Amino acid sequence: MSDRIHDREPPRVRLANLPTRGHFLRYPLPVKVWLKRDDHTGSELMGNKVRKLEYLMAEAQAQQATHVITCGGEQSNHARATAFAAAQLGMASVLILRCDDPAHPPATTGNILLDRLVGAEIVWITRAAWRDRNRLLAEQAERLRAAGHRPYVVPEGGSNALGSWGYIRAMRELVDDLAALPAPVTVVYACGSGGTGAGLILGAKLFAPHLRVAAVNVCDDRAYFLDVIGRICRDAEDRWQLGTKVTASDIDILDGHVGAGYAKSRPDELATIRDVCRSDGIVLDPVYTGKAFHGLVAELRADPKRFGATVAFLHTGGMFGAFASAELAAISAR
Ligand SMILES: Cc1ncc(COP(=O)(O)O)c(C=O)c1O
Repeated sequence: MSDRIHDREPPRVRLANLPTRGHFLRYPLPVKVWLKRDDHTGSELMGNKVRKLEYLMAEAQAQQATHVITCGGEQSNHARATAFAAAQLGMASVLILRCDDPAHPPATTGNILLDRLVGAEIVWITRAAWRDRNRLLAEQAERLRAAGHRPYVVPEGGSNALGSWGYIRAMRELVDDLAALPAPVTVVYACGSGGTGAGLILGAKLFAPHLRVAAVNVCDDRAYFLDVIGRICRDAEDRWQLGTKVTASDIDILDGHVGAGYAKSRPDELATIRDVCRSDGIVLDPVYTGKAFHGLVAELRADPKRFGATVAFLHTGGMFGAFASAELAAISAR
């Protein structure tokens, strides 16, 4: 594969170990399920976020940023990955993280431990304040500017048009991977803020127009992601004149698997994570990949033929978040 994937591709800084490899699951399912190991994009930088950060951090570098600011949930994989990408490129980081009570921040475990270890400045906010996250990001940028620094703001999840190039590139990689799998194939992924989906859908338009790409949303609902993913795709199409036209019919959302809510696990989801680990030696996480995989299992058991001969499930990372789950610890003891 040549290094550039498209003549409109924006500059990229190499952060991820690419291409990622694959694994056929032994975990019993009615069709073959192949995992793309995007949890192996790095160690500190593991998961899907690092692919988006390759483009976002290239822009930060071009602007000679001294600080990177972003936001997320308390165990945000994206915030941790951004803080590490910043440190690896010689920048400082500020993370706006939401929690139940900023006066009593959550324990320093999982991603938070890594955020602390790498020296990120953490600004704790309430769930109510989260609604104003874009204003809060702008305020932090202003604070840093007033102190003589050059901040660069990465949006929630790295999910904007520029970040979506990370998964346009991943789709180019997938086209090579999928050539070796029994057809037809459906690509299934966990959807949280929409950027991964937008990139995959744009990438499919460009490189694999007949490939089905389907999301299992781990929060919100189908209508929300039709809007969010549609908007990111349109921004990218306009900004780089891609010549594609993503419509609602391209955005395939397998809704109905959010379960108890974002970052809340049901015992059967946790049991699936444990069982995949025991059959295959692979760790899914409770918030994203485990929930999405559990949703995929439910869909396949209801209708084994609905995705074709093979499912290519994107393992988008999240393991550090698993370290913070007391419920996963409890079910692992059984
Ligand atoms: C491990 C993991 N998988 C999947 C996702 C979802 O990706 P996106 O936010 O691009 O929808 C995220 C982040 O939200 C994540 O951390």
